[in-house]
Amino acid sequence: MLELKNVSVEFISASSVRAVDGVSMVLRDGSRTAIVGETGSGKSILMLSIMRLLASNAAISGEILLDGEDILKADRKRLQQIRGGIISYVPQGGGASMNPLLKVGFQVGEPLMEHRGVSRREAEKKSIGLLKFFNLGDEERLAKSYPHTFSGGMRQRAMVAMGISAGARIILADEPTKGLDEKRVALVTDTFNRLKDETLLVVTHDMTFAQKVAQDICVMYASQQVEYGTASQIIGDPLHPYTRDMISAMPENGMKYDDRGFAPSHEEDVKGCRYSQRCHECMEKCSEMPPVADVNGHKVRCWKYAV
Ligand SMILES: Nc1ncnc2c1ncn2[C@@H]1O[C@H](COP(=O)(O)OP(=O)(O)OP(=O)(O)O)[C@@H](O)[C@H]1O
Ligand code: SF4
Ligand SMILES: [Mg+2]
Repeated sequence: MLELKNVSVEFISASSVRAVDGVSMVLRDGSRTAIVGETGSGKSILMLSIMRLLASNAAISGEILLDGEDILKADRKRLQQIRGGIISYVPQGGGASMNPLLKVGFQVGEPLMEHRGVSRREAEKKSIGLLKFFNLGDEERLAKSYPHTFSGGMRQRAMVAMGISAGARIILADEPTKGLDEKRVALVTDTFNRLKDETLLVVTHDMTFAQKVAQDICVMYASQQVEYGTASQIIGDPLHPYTRDMISAMPENGMKYDDRGFAPSHEEDVKGCRYSQRCHECMEKCSEMPPVADVNGHKVRCWKYAV
């Protein structure tokens, strides 16, 4: 189980920037969670915090518990075991980050050599099996090909295969469908839906994709987690005005998003609700920061639900 408790990230420079502000989540074994939110809301930074891959000027606080062990306190050796061995990470634009000089089969099998001491021959054999598992087609030939011959969607799927090759049981994927057409999004969705035992945390702008791959959804806005619940709660009965606006903007709902401005920048000192400038339901007390309310296990940061 992976549990995030009140995780915040601040970049310390001339003016400090709080990129993630008090996020809490529980990822039970085998569960699937999507983080959705607009650009700059802190989604990638949150994922990088779990991998401890942030720049040196980043201060992380809170706890990130892997079966009770705080990753934020892990030393370098333990982090090497965790990265790729227990938690694998497919970065934003991940397909493009495959090494262009190495064949795909070698790259997919590389974590097995690194973490499990498996021979190169065995690892390459296993990688063909993994490409088959994800149904890429003509896998023997693909394993001998270089990444530039793959489409964006194929590279994403190969990256997920690489992610689980050494037995990592928690997969983090940042925007795996970005820039892909509908057909390729469907293939990437299929890839994630083939994972049965692994725990999945996926970042996406695409609520429709989130609904297809995740059981739980965390909605982020301006560094904060504004709503967190099951996919049926979030999509079927959204509580936060931002989530409601976002769901109205789904193509099947006619994209009726009334965009009245941008999220506050980090330089703006917003004391109250960060969505207040765009919210249709803003009231007087929204000039103070709303607390997180619990509505039947469905968490929402909005004054409308505060008791
Ligand atoms: N090294 C850094 N120093 C200062 N601020 C940073 C740094 N890296 C990221 N940020 C800020 O942190 C905020 C959150 O960034 P993040 O990349 O997590 O957004 P995101 O939700 O993933 O957006 P997108 O959907 O565009 O990928 C942004 O406002 C960004 O400017
Ligand atoms: S706290 Fe107020 S401004 Fe913020 S989302 Fe709720 S109603 Fe809107
Ligand atoms: Mg991002």
